[in-house]
Amino acid sequence: MSRKVTKAVFPVAGFGTRFLPATKSVPKEILPLVDRPLIQYAIDEARAAGVKEFIFVTSRGKSALEDYFDGAPELEAALHEGKKTALIEALKQTDMDSGAVAYVRQQERRGLGHAVWCARRLIGDEPFAVILPDDVIDAETPCLKQMVEAYAETGGNMVATMEVPHASVSSYGIVDVGGQTGTTMSVRAMVEKPKAADAPSNFAVIGRYILTPNVLKNLEKLEAGAGGEVQLTDAIAQEIGRRGDVHAFRFRGQRFDCGSKSGYLQATVAFGLARDELRGEFLDYLQTTLDSLREPLREKAVARG
Ligand code: G1P
Repeated sequence: MSRKVTKAVFPVAGFGTRFLPATKSVPKEILPLVDRPLIQYAIDEARAAGVKEFIFVTSRGKSALEDYFDGAPELEAALHEGKKTALIEALKQTDMDSGAVAYVRQQERRGLGHAVWCARRLIGDEPFAVILPDDVIDAETPCLKQMVEAYAETGGNMVATMEVPHASVSSYGIVDVGGQTGTTMSVRAMVEKPKAADAPSNFAVIGRYILTPNVLKNLEKLEAGAGGEVQLTDAIAQEIGRRGDVHAFRFRGQRFDCGSKSGYLQATVAFGLARDELRGEFLDYLQTTLDSLREPLREKAVARG
């Protein structure tokens, strides 16, 4: 039986340049979807999958993330005094057991593989999960939980995957997949951000991983790869056929690329509509907006006869 996954790494050291100027002073992971920061979605998913230890790989300028998971005695006292029970309840999402969260700094920006490697001492010699908070996945069963269940059968290494348009393969790690058992496929090759013409498939790696400690050993010696950065994809690829298996897991759910403005806006709409207290008014607004956009098109069509 595979060992339980109780540790997760959250690489959160990036500049978030696509969201400048907002991210000049606010870490990208603190940007909210409705009223919860991106990192909260990632933490909740990890918790649902049985993760007990949360390792953040941060960098300068990310102290707001540490504050977010800290106690806030003055705020809590004010809410208690005002008997704001719903808000007190909402704040509880940010509670973390003492010692359950650790922060390590990535002093140099050398890529995702290097960021994960920075957490090696806290991970030790056991399997671990990696969650990229930019990839927000809306799913009935949280994605990492689906993976942990599949991993209990397969062991080895596992990456989440989904099909993407061929034109977008160069934005992702791409897997070449072989045999499929249920929703799990065996991986024959992995390549980081290939040109469309060189991509072995259109199955993209999405930011959820369950990895063996061997991957950390591979990262130790890894040369920079695509984009001049140390790539996690390359370290996982070294496991194919060598020591462990690598599996690609087709998750059930909808993934939003919250690292892009368009994906972030789409997620805002989806998560806004999912909230009972917002749906009515928000849907009316969307409907009116769509109608007003369609009207000139209709008029044009009528004018053309
Ligand atoms: C990272 C990984 C890539 C993966 C992607 C998923 O790329 O390197 O393999 O497909 O996340 O979001 P990034 O988006 O950080 O450039």
